[in-house]
Amino acid sequence: MIVVTAAGGVTGTAVVRTLLSRGEEVRAVVPSSRPRPTLDGLGAEVVVGDLTGDLSPVLAGADALYLIWPNFDPGEATGAPEVLAQAARSGVRRLVYHSVLRPQARAMPHHAAKDRVEEALDGAVAGTAARWRVLQPCAYADNLDGQLAAAVRSGELRSPWGLERAQSFVDLRDVAVAAAVLLTADGLDSGTFEAVGPEELTAPDVAALLSARSGRPVTAVDVRADDDGTYAGRCRTTMFDWYRAHGFTGSPRVLTGLLGRPPRTVAEHLADRPTG
Ligand SMILES: NC(=O)c1ccc[n+]([C@@H]2O[C@H](COP(=O)([O-])OP(=O)(O)OC[C@H]3O[C@@H](n4cnc5c(N)ncnc54)[C@H](OP(=O)(O)O)[C@@H]3O)[C@@H](O)[C@H]2O)c1
Repeated sequence: MIVVTAAGGVTGTAVVRTLLSRGEEVRAVVPSSRPRPTLDGLGAEVVVGDLTGDLSPVLAGADALYLIWPNFDPGEATGAPEVLAQAARSGVRRLVYHSVLRPQARAMPHHAAKDRVEEALDGAVAGTAARWRVLQPCAYADNLDGQLAAAVRSGELRSPWGLERAQSFVDLRDVAVAAAVLLTADGLDSGTFEAVGPEELTAPDVAALLSARSGRPVTAVDVRADDDGTYAGRCRTTMFDWYRAHGFTGSPRVLTGLLGRPPRTVAEHLADRPTG
């Protein structure tokens, strides 16, 4: 049985769905019992557990843990190693941590936190039978989904990362398959695996793909991300400033190896998304 945390979020639900489709038994951990229409009914055992509390009841009997920490959460650097250590002490033998591409780009606070967690992995499993693995995705193509219909309607794709630098967007379905491989395949212990899409695209490139998909003219426009003064707001603005200065690209080679095929392109991602 595989435990997945933050299972009601976009990443968690995608990982749960993929594991179930591959015949795995899944325990999905959520912070409260409120209804979650995209998770409820998939067929996982949904249990309430707080990542900042005692998780031993939800970890009991698990073969593997997929640790997703909530996005832009200030407790990750200290909380995630604690959960990993609890899991190792509880007898969970395979720990997979959902990190990010280039966590060592520490100007971004959420990257710095994930770098700290990766640093803590060996200590978390020390003296136990547990072994760790890490998945490092770049930005999901799915991050664009929320604005596709509005962009087609208005003719403007809003880009908080500017118009010049590129990203290697990865489809979340491919990330979820890579997660399932790390959770179930032998021979990958102590490995760190990048999950990166196959092309480097600027915002104008994405706008052109959206034009082709919708048959309507779409142009990329430069916008600035809001900093609302919260930790999450600071993570968001420093992230987009980083992307604006450096882009956020990587090699698709490792993900191709995990999937046994090339990762999906952004055009393939858009083909499966409503744009009207
Ligand atoms: N988006 C990307 O492009 C990308 C790329 C690489 C890595 N990542 C990483 O992926 C991770 C997940 O991101 P996401 O966008 O999928 O997250 P998300 O949609 O914001 O989901 C986070 C989930 O965590 C749950 N949660 C919050 N506090 C909790 C607690 N104390 N205990 C247990 N669960 C709790 C939330 O539950 P409620 O729904 O009840 O609030 C929510 O369902 C993040 O660490 C992010 O950095 C994202």
